[in-house]
Amino acid sequence: MKILVIGGGGREHALAWKLRRSAEVEHVWCAPGNAGIAQEAECVGVDVKKLDTLVALGEKLRPDLTVVGPELPLVLGIVDEFERRGLPVVGPSKQAAQLEGSKIFAKEFLLRHGIPTASVHGICDSADDARGALRAVDWPVVIKADGLAAGKGVLVASSLDEATAFIDRLMVDREFGAAGDRVVIEEALAGPELSFIVLTDGEHFIPLAPSRDHKRALDGDKGPNTGGMGAYSSATLLEREAERAILENVVQPTIAAIKREGLRYRGFLYFGLMLTAEGPKVLEFNCRMGDPETQPLVARMDFDLAAALRALATGNLSAVRPAWKPGASICVVMAAAGYPGTPQTGARIDGLADAGNVPGVVVFHAATQRSGDEITVAGGRVLGVTATGGDLATAARACYQAAGKIHFDGAHFRRDIGISSLAVAVAARE
Ligand code: AMP
Ligand code: GLY
Repeated sequence: MKILVIGGGGREHALAWKLRRSAEVEHVWCAPGNAGIAQEAECVGVDVKKLDTLVALGEKLRPDLTVVGPELPLVLGIVDEFERRGLPVVGPSKQAAQLEGSKIFAKEFLLRHGIPTASVHGICDSADDARGALRAVDWPVVIKADGLAAGKGVLVASSLDEATAFIDRLMVDREFGAAGDRVVIEEALAGPELSFIVLTDGEHFIPLAPSRDHKRALDGDKGPNTGGMGAYSSATLLEREAERAILENVVQPTIAAIKREGLRYRGFLYFGLMLTAEGPKVLEFNCRMGDPETQPLVARMDFDLAAALRALATGNLSAVRPAWKPGASICVVMAAAGYPGTPQTGARIDGLADAGNVPGVVVFHAATQRSGDEITVAGGRVLGVTATGGDLATAARACYQAAGKIHFDGAHFRRDIGISSLAVAVAARE
């Protein structure tokens, strides 16, 4: 098989790394890739925001399988274009990708099908409308830009002042452009979050191992939201009863609704869940793998991902049998100075080889580039240091030992990935 991976972040490095290890895979291209991916795959320069360019690349390379990492090409309709040209591809149709591309589409879909989610205070198309919807709410509330905003278009607001300031940023200053033309204002839910990702053909589904992301910038879940500062997966992350509730109350009804609405879907469907006292509720859908969840997930995968995705893309989901290494895996994101605001790029990265030599560790590159003999910082989330271990504590030790060997100016990372209060309780039982 010749596979094309689209994207150039930590998720795509992890995917390329895993796909390359399949006996069935002869060649991997990655567009555009990064300095780490270049060690696994042939990188092809491309702008993932331009659908025409991606389609031309697909026609030129004619891959046996295309795996799309980021949401934007999916929302732009890459799957429809590739399938029309007979190119097998993993992902939802343009229409189905609205489950991620529009928070309003997703919320209306959830409400229409009675799938548990936060209740809505307002769906607003002007700043005045949004300010009006805030008049009679209990605080905190959650405000979400309708469109894609790289995980940064959501605020949990504790006061009217905070909420109004965010609405002004979205709808008056238009910080996220058209993504903020409409907003959802919803009830704030409480509980641990969980990333529950399934493979689906739009009728059936197969769950992957559960994982947990850490979205806030600072230890103890403080600071602003980011694209994700780290994630972990472990064999004991979810108790059987919680898993049953997720499958029965959330996943099955969602897949049934996708089928009922005739949405074409052959890809990853990511349920961003809050495990509330009333049961699991959907915070968001993503129509792709998570970043950084992919990094700890591929580290635990004990099956041939290339064969599985090829089966999914060609309508043979029933042939897929995921298996997972026991124990746990953790990915710690090392970020550039300034992230999640404007990152400082260009710093030289040292210690990558030493870090990669720590047993059980693989260092995935997220935003790096090669400048002569050096590897340098090229964006906000720079590296995903990833480790497996017999349990969470062992994986975390290896991960932090490796991260300690890597240096670049301004590097910062959370020290508590996988060590949140719930994880501590789980680890204590392991
Ligand atoms: P989303 O992009 O919708 O997943 O939102 C990003 C993050 O904002 C989530 O991972 C949560 O941490 C937080 N969040 C979103 N919706 C809610 C909600 N209804 N209640 C509390 N926190 C939320
Ligand atoms: N880690 C969250 C996301 O991929 O959206």
